[in-house]
Amino acid sequence: TRVAIIFGGRSSEHAISCATAAGVMSAIDSDRFEVVPIGIARSGAWVIGPEDTESLKLAPGYLPEVTDQERPTAMLGFGPQSGQVMVASGTEAQRVLGGVDVVLPLLHGPFGEDGTLQGMLELADLPYVGSGVLASAAGMDKYAMKMMLAGAGLPVGRFTLIGRREWERDRAACLDAVWPLGPVVFVKPSRAGSSMGVQRVVLADGEAALIAAIEEARRHDPRVIVEAAVDGREIEVAVLEGRGTNPPRTTAPGEIVVSGEHTFYDFEAKYTDTSTTSLQVPASVSDEAQREARAMAARAFEVLDCEGLARVDMFLAGTKLSINEVNTMPGFTPFSMFPMLWQHEGMSYSELITELIDLALE
Ligand code: DAL
Ligand code: MG
Repeated sequence: TRVAIIFGGRSSEHAISCATAAGVMSAIDSDRFEVVPIGIARSGAWVIGPEDTESLKLAPGYLPEVTDQERPTAMLGFGPQSGQVMVASGTEAQRVLGGVDVVLPLLHGPFGEDGTLQGMLELADLPYVGSGVLASAAGMDKYAMKMMLAGAGLPVGRFTLIGRREWERDRAACLDAVWPLGPVVFVKPSRAGSSMGVQRVVLADGEAALIAAIEEARRHDPRVIVEAAVDGREIEVAVLEGRGTNPPRTTAPGEIVVSGEHTFYDFEAKYTDTSTTSLQVPASVSDEAQREARAMAARAFEVLDCEGLARVDMFLAGTKLSINEVNTMPGFTPFSMFPMLWQHEGMSYSELITELIDLALE
């Protein structure tokens, strides 16, 4: 089976995607799968490789990157028949590398995890791992996601949208909607990941601090969501699509424990200052909370119409659970929460990759 692994990409989570791809390429079952690595540079150029997984790994003080220098360009061409996709390489795209059977889009963030690439793969009628267009787009947009989950009766906390034009048109009205969410809020780009552009704001610090946070979030996405901070533990459940018509499979929750100077699980705590973060697998929570978290995660997976995989992030405040977000392509290095949670359930990292590809081909 030929698997095109697509990674890197134009989003601010480029480096995380490279690290995810490095993990997957090192562990994929090479007896069953032949990998065609396709990198997307920050510029948006598609290239073949790199195959050297060492250069793609995250290391302290090093964020990996796909460059478009000195690499053969890659093209995914649509064949005359549906499902016929060819990978071509070379400046004139003359050297056809052959067809691929399935695509593993290991991209995080906009232009990859948000339904855009998925739409292209749908047009080509090519199987791919993970969620389709709707779930990917909804999962990427925190406001759309929360509206869908809330509409299905799932607890998502309090939040307000600051639409792109609303902020330009009537800033005062936007700010008015934020004050009742206090005392502490999180200001987030609606479409981003890995805590890019996310800021914690204490409303008592005044309007200027809030405006600055909104402006900063708008640099990542002009669509901004402001959420009431939840004073609780951060727990995460990994979900895999069920085979056939079986319900989604869930893991016991894991917990993110952030310490040190980080007031929340920000980008540094996630990837560069990991000494202050620990992933607790499984989380030490009551049987009741565990049951409820798993049921909520499975329901969220269905509500958004997810496929393949998703990680559902929640808060546990006392005995009260709420959903923070759903990630349709969660961090997937061997040390990421999603694979670790499945490892705990008895599925190894390699088995998990095989299972995801088999689900896509089912
Ligand atoms: N957006 C990052 C990769 C995650 O959810 O793990
Ligand atoms: Mg999260």
